[in-house]
Amino acid sequence: MNLKDLYINYFVSKGHKQIPSAPVVPENDPSVLFNTAGMQPLIPYLMGQPHPYGTRLTDYQKCIRTNDLDNIGDTYHHTFFEMLGNWSLGDYFKNEAIEMSFEFLTKVLNIPVERLAVTVFAGNDILPFDEEAYNKWISLGIPKERIAKTSLDNFWIAGETGPCGPDSEMFYFRSNDSIPTVFDPEDNRWVEIWNDVFMGYEKMEDGSIRELPKKNVDTGMGVERTVAILEGKTDNYTSSIWMPVINLIEEISKKPYEGNEKSMRIIADHLRTAVFILADPAGIKPSNTDQGYILRRLIRRAIRHAKNLEIDINSNWEEIIASKIMDNYENYYSEIKDNRNVVLEGLKNEKIKFNRTLEKGLREFEKVSNKNIDGETAFHLFDTYGFPLELTEELAKEKGLSVDTEGYKQKFKEHQELSRTASAGKFKGGLSSHSEIETKYHTATHLLNAALKLVIDNNVHQKGSNITEERMRFDFSCDHKLSEEEIKKAEDIVNNWISEGLDVRCDEMKKEDAIASGAECMFIEKYPDIVTVYSIGDVSKELCGGPHVKNTSELGHFKIVKEEASSAGVRRIKAVLE
Ligand code: ALA
Repeated sequence: MNLKDLYINYFVSKGHKQIPSAPVVPENDPSVLFNTAGMQPLIPYLMGQPHPYGTRLTDYQKCIRTNDLDNIGDTYHHTFFEMLGNWSLGDYFKNEAIEMSFEFLTKVLNIPVERLAVTVFAGNDILPFDEEAYNKWISLGIPKERIAKTSLDNFWIAGETGPCGPDSEMFYFRSNDSIPTVFDPEDNRWVEIWNDVFMGYEKMEDGSIRELPKKNVDTGMGVERTVAILEGKTDNYTSSIWMPVINLIEEISKKPYEGNEKSMRIIADHLRTAVFILADPAGIKPSNTDQGYILRRLIRRAIRHAKNLEIDINSNWEEIIASKIMDNYENYYSEIKDNRNVVLEGLKNEKIKFNRTLEKGLREFEKVSNKNIDGETAFHLFDTYGFPLELTEELAKEKGLSVDTEGYKQKFKEHQELSRTASAGKFKGGLSSHSEIETKYHTATHLLNAALKLVIDNNVHQKGSNITEERMRFDFSCDHKLSEEEIKKAEDIVNNWISEGLDVRCDEMKKEDAIASGAECMFIEKYPDIVTVYSIGDVSKELCGGPHVKNTSELGHFKIVKEEASSAGVRRIKAVLE
């Protein structure tokens, strides 16, 4: 059985409910491009909102971290990775969390205690030494020499503010050397494999810390790293997770992994991440902004390294590799199964686009790279040959040259301003700030959900939603393409409700009462006892965490700009408020 199954089974046997991996592009949270940790989709619940599945949760979560893209090519960095986690939302705390971690490591994964070491929070000027965690590890048989007390590394928070707390990290001794008696977290033969965060606090904007109403546990174990360790590999890319893909690249390029590690790792890593971004319900396509730009960079960099390996990039090499990757994941992620063609098409289209200019661009680069690259040249390579800045930087670095990135950014901005003046102002009217727009779209989403029930039937239910500054997207169950008449009707109903100036109300109520009153929700049987219900006049009632406007008259004019298929039995509407 593999690590993911072992982990989920173990925590389910300890009373946890398995929750599905959230989309890798966060829903309704434009502040981050991708989920970077298992806890990210759970932030509202760690802050106190009741979770529909209860107080003990476990999952494997798709995560993407692209801040150190340049490190890809070494033995252990990946842009996409899976994080295993178990959570207590005000349920168990330190003792039980540590007990379960220890049992899983030593009894399920059969890791000898001698190979384990841990860190605990040493205390700082705000919070005391975590004696409870320390004593617990001692009682389980971890010798005190193998417990390091540190402050800086043992306090975990996802960003600048939000839920946080002292943590305790578990390390594995990955070396054939004899194991030192005293554990030194700086000795890189000890590899961190798991982190238990005791999330009892919230960090505020002003830097102060307050106690959360409930004490939570948040844990995270990286799948790639742990599997490599269990298989005795020091290069993650030689573990069973990556080897099938690396072998395929060897076959396609007719070159051995040895001696070509960097390019092969980059191709394997970047194509895997591109597969997961393209398959995500957010429907991201390569572009020059946000997630689309990351996706574009990943695909183009993979293509460049395929060229390094002398792979014929006009062949279907990317399709063969991506298909292999999808074979490995489709049993765990339904979106991979459902969107195979979307992924392959997305990769192919981007490849065709890039291939058209790649050769010429590389020749141009050769021409201009007899000296350091100025901003104008870097922008020219981007604008005319589709070279993301980072690609130019990478090529320059290989030649020992520098790139004037500031100059590039300046050129980019000038160019953007020029093209903006052409299409200016469309979404600006009346919508003054970012979060205000989101809030409005959030309320419009509820109205659209209710309107579609009237236009189609009561079996319409929300299947997904995503809000950006510029539009809302709503996926719903429906087995046919909407006619123009139906679209018009839905639009009219929403606009009618907007012009009626309906009040939006938020109530906490018992689950049974909410259900009895016909409130809309996604997993009715799994909600906690007390739920938050948003009502809009008497036209809509939904279990939801908010936020919403106070009155529908704040929304402006609602317009559906697109209706299309999302997946089998699910339609997708994109709409704007103007
Ligand atoms: N959220 C914690 C981490 O990512 C568990 O390390």
